[in-house]
Amino acid sequence: MNRRKFISIAGVTTVMAAGGYYWSTDKSNFVRDDILLNTKEKFSFQKDEREILYLASLAPSGHNTQPWFIKYVEPYHWIIGNDKSKWLPGVDPTQRETMLSIGAFLQNLEYAASNLGYSFQCEILAKTNQDETIAAVKLTKLPAFIKYDTALIKLRRTVRSNYLSDVLKPADVAYVTGKESRFFYLIPNTAKEFKWLNEQTIEANRIQAYRNFAQKELANWIRFSSQDAQKHRDGLTLGSMEIEGVPAWVLRNFYKKEDVMKSNFREQSIDAVKKQVTQSAGWLLITSKDSSPGTLIETGKRLQRMLLKVRERNIAIHPMTQIIEESAIGKSLNSSIGISDPIQFILRTGYVKNYPRPVSLRRPVEWFVRTV
Ligand SMILES: Cc1cc2nc3c(=O)[nH]c(=O)nc-3n(C[C@H](O)[C@H](O)[C@H](O)COP(=O)(O)O)c2cc1C
Repeated sequence: MNRRKFISIAGVTTVMAAGGYYWSTDKSNFVRDDILLNTKEKFSFQKDEREILYLASLAPSGHNTQPWFIKYVEPYHWIIGNDKSKWLPGVDPTQRETMLSIGAFLQNLEYAASNLGYSFQCEILAKTNQDETIAAVKLTKLPAFIKYDTALIKLRRTVRSNYLSDVLKPADVAYVTGKESRFFYLIPNTAKEFKWLNEQTIEANRIQAYRNFAQKELANWIRFSSQDAQKHRDGLTLGSMEIEGVPAWVLRNFYKKEDVMKSNFREQSIDAVKKQVTQSAGWLLITSKDSSPGTLIETGKRLQRMLLKVRERNIAIHPMTQIIEESAIGKSLNSSIGISDPIQFILRTGYVKNYPRPVSLRRPVEWFVRTV
């Protein structure tokens, strides 16, 4: 065998070995469409109950912890619970975001029930954000009803990339905020407050990325491998963080929790935020009259009512809550923006050309229903 032939055989063998290696790796992000609906029914639901609870669970939540559970009192009568094991003390020490997320869950539940012809009776029971019992819900079948299009619930998602910088049209803002426009403030990318929010979002992310307690908590909720994603069905998957291609392959196959604590990971996440804030039409803020548990639940519902309308107008929304979470910056938020009411959400917004399908995962209903 001459030298040239040896080199070419060796080259082909190496490529084949590498190819073989590649095929044995975690090759693609595990996304919502990969979930096979083959969950074994451990719980015998009444007609429509499982569907309503599944649709409710498609609500957004901080780090996708899905901090709710259901105490099954009797058919169509449930207690909505606050699952302490899903709290985020590192970034949400007062469970403000937990309550907002449970509010979004309740709004989905109400719409899903109305789609199937049930009236929704809901009594808020929580006196503090830490109470385990949040609300009592009863559904009653109605003879006549207006159907809510649940495709809107199934297709809602957080979008993080490819925002256009065109300012939102007033008619679109009016449509998505509806009769609740007094709680929404749009800060277009032409306003001086826009610059402050961009800069301080980057700064708050930097502070948070180097706060080990918060970073460790984040590490516990990142699902690098498809196996981990499939096992937990919650948290931040690479798909939901919109990491694709070779970078995603490297992260899926070689990254572990511990790597989140390394400085290159922290710096890369700050760089990602810098890139994100340069892409936007502006910021949309949601305020509330106070910060009581009931008001937070109502504000989470309000967020969800708006989120369920944005896709039809090709508007993307990305909650970026770090300014509120980092008190060193959060304390000057209201005065810098000139708003006196409490600000509960800071949402990056903008039009997108192509609206991606939802990819974030949810636990099966059976995992969050408890019998009393
Ligand atoms: C209260 C709350 C706070 C959130 N904060 C952030 C945030 O700071 N950064 C971010 O990228 N996403 C944030 N999100 C979005 C969640 O990460 C997202 O809803 C979750 O991963 C599920 O994905 P989905 O919205 O596409 O279903 C937040 C959502 C809620 C409800």
